[in-house]
This record gives sequence, C-alpha cells and structure tokens, in this order.
Amino acid sequence: MYPVLIEGSRISLRELDAADTAAVLATTADHNATKHLPFQAMDKHEVAVYLKELIDASNDQERFLYPLAIVRREDEQVMGLAQLGIESFLHRRAELGYLLGSSYWGNGYGSEAVRLITDFGFDHLGLQRIFAVAADRNEASRKLLESQGFDREGTLRDHLLLGDRWVDGDLYARVAPRHSQTIETG
Ligand SMILES: CC(C)(COP(=O)(O)OP(=O)(O)OC[C@H]1O[C@@H](n2cnc3c(N)ncnc32)[C@H](O)[C@@H]1OP(=O)(O)O)[C@@H](O)C(=O)NCCC(=O)NCCS
Repeated sequence: MYPVLIEGSRISLRELDAADTAAVLATTADHNATKHLPFQAMDKHEVAVYLKELIDASNDQERFLYPLAIVRREDEQVMGLAQLGIESFLHRRAELGYLLGSSYWGNGYGSEAVRLITDFGFDHLGLQRIFAVAADRNEASRKLLESQGFDREGTLRDHLLLGDRWVDGDLYARVAPRHSQTIETG
C-alpha cells in the first residue's frame, strides 16, 4: 500500500520524503532519544542515504516496511518516525518501532502515533499480531506500550547490543480481535 497518510487529531503519519533529511538528522542525533536504540550516530550524508533506503523500501512491490514521519499538524513539524516492519506476510506479523525528538516528549504525541499506526496495521494491513521490543531500562517506551493496550509477554535475553553492553528486551504485543466463529451443531 502506497502512499500512506494517516490523520489523527494532533498529528499525522505520512510517507517520508528526501526533504525530511534535516528533521531526521536532528532526531537521530538526539542522544536522549536514541540511547535505548541500536543506532549509530549519522552525519547528514549518511542520514540522506538511510532515508533513501527507507523511501525505496516503501516503494517495493511487495511492501514490508512502513516507515512514516510523525508530523505535528498545527505547524507541519516533523517530530520523529513511527514504523511497522512486516516480519511475516504468512503469519500477518509486524514489528513496531517509534522515535520522537526529546523536545516533543510528554505531550501525548507518542501515544497518538502508536495508536494510529497500530490501528492502521490491524485495519488496513490485516495484521494479526503487532509486537515491539523495549530495552529493559526504557521506562517511557514500556509505559507507552502499556497505555496503548500492549501486553508484556516476556524477556528477550541479550536482545540488543547498545554500544558495548548487551541489553535484555521486554517483548510487548497486541493481537487483533478474533472474528467470532459460529460452530454449527446438529
Ligand atoms: C517512547 C516515546 C515515544 C514516548 O513519547 P511521548 O510522546 O513522550 O509519550 P506520551 O506523552 O504519549 O506518554 C505515553 C505514556 O508513557 C508515559 N511516559 C512517557 N515518558 C515517560 C518517562 N520518561 N518515564 C515514565 N513514563 C513515561 C506517560 O506518562 C504516558 O503514560 P500514561 O498514558 O499512563 O500517562 C519517547 O520517549 C521516545 O521517542 N523515546 C525514544 C525512542 C524510543 O525509546 N523508542 C522505543 C523503541 S521500542
């Protein structure tokens, strides 16, 4: 499905554009925002290449990556990224990720972004399961997932290498409501 545009009350999620390089650079250079993520610092050229890879992947015939800009509607400011990565078409399973610049935290934007992209995944991509892995010290991410109805399913040991440190991941997931099945008897 391309292009995707998801309109919420205060934010929208839209396809990335080469013109987003400066905003993505600012977000990925924000140490507070990336300290729980396996991100290497990138310069402007590297961000432009990374963005091009994401945009190319978004145009794949069989699209499996949905990286979307989180845009504040009142001023069109790009505040960060939200992404669904389909891990299995057969099993209709995708991984959720998100990243907001730290100056935008604490205003409910993260909650709205997760709600919008999760609803899109279930309602428009037909996903059955959406999961996310939060690094074990990532309190904000855990709280956000819990507030959006994700259940904690367990610990993935040594799931992330952050710098020179192995970090456990907290696995969270939501599943689509099952269609009621009527069992005919007699
Ligand atoms: C996780 C993140 C998106 C949250 O964004 P946000 O806009 O600040 O979140 P919200 O304002 O919508 O808050 C969502 C919930 O988390 C809680 N929360 C947010 N930041 C928190 C923090 N630092 N510590 C504890 N709780 C926090 C809020 O109180 C709220 O809970 P509530 O609904 O029960 O009141 C943001 O912190 C971020 O981008 N972090 C860096 C990237 C990252 O860690 N991504 C996760 C990859 S798994």
